Amino acid sequence: MTSTNFNLFKSQIYFKDDFHSFAKCQELDRLYFAWPWGHSHWQDLAKDSQNYSLFTIGSENELTGLALYYIPPSSSLVHLLKLIMTPSVRRQGWGQKLLLKSMQDLQKINRSEFYLEVEENNTVALNLYNKIGYKILCRKKDFYGSKRNALAMKYFVQNT
Ligand SMILES: CC(C)(COP(=O)(O)OP(=O)(O)OC[C@H]1O[C@@H](n2cnc3c(N)ncnc32)[C@H](O)[C@@H]1OP(=O)(O)O)[C@@H](O)C(=O)NCCC(=O)NCCS
Repeated sequence: MTSTNFNLFKSQIYFKDDFHSFAKCQELDRLYFAWPWGHSHWQDLAKDSQNYSLFTIGSENELTGLALYYIPPSSSLVHLLKLIMTPSVRRQGWGQKLLLKSMQDLQKINRSEFYLEVEENNTVALNLYNKIGYKILCRKKDFYGSKRNALAMKYFVQNT
């Protein structure tokens, strides 16, 4: 499988198709995500690509962020698995833009429930999710290991 099976988020920002490369996504994950996946996990995802959506953002020469969702079949739900921005571009609104645009795009395929887990002490991410309108569902004790709790959160699209 090639990464072209994924959805590529394009906007008025800067995007290039080659950002969609798995290797670059894996590197971003390895460097900047608290719970990076191993190569085999990414390979498994590649084999099952129809059930995932990957949204990327970057400058001309660099992948600077990604949002990865699990898209279960026959469901209104999606699960945000990873949201990562490279440190040099943080606090400039790109993470929020990527999150909102990806959610808009997924609504176009009739997904109206957005689920995620976030480490309880990840204040930065929690601020972002709260700001967007995610609500806490429950606390998952030791979800990430001993004394590393998660908060499960959900965002429901309001029908107007
Ligand atoms: C979480 C992350 C994606 C945010 O990306 P970002 O581009 O820096 O975020 P933005 O600039 O769009 O900020 C959006 C909101 O997030 C919150 N936020 C971002 N950085 C923050 C900081 N340093 N301190 C407190 N709140 C912060 C704020 O609510 C902010 O809104 P505001 O600017 O109006 O205050 C980024 O910090 C990251 O990649 N972190 C490491 C990976 C991670 O923890 N991912 C989430 C796991 S579930």
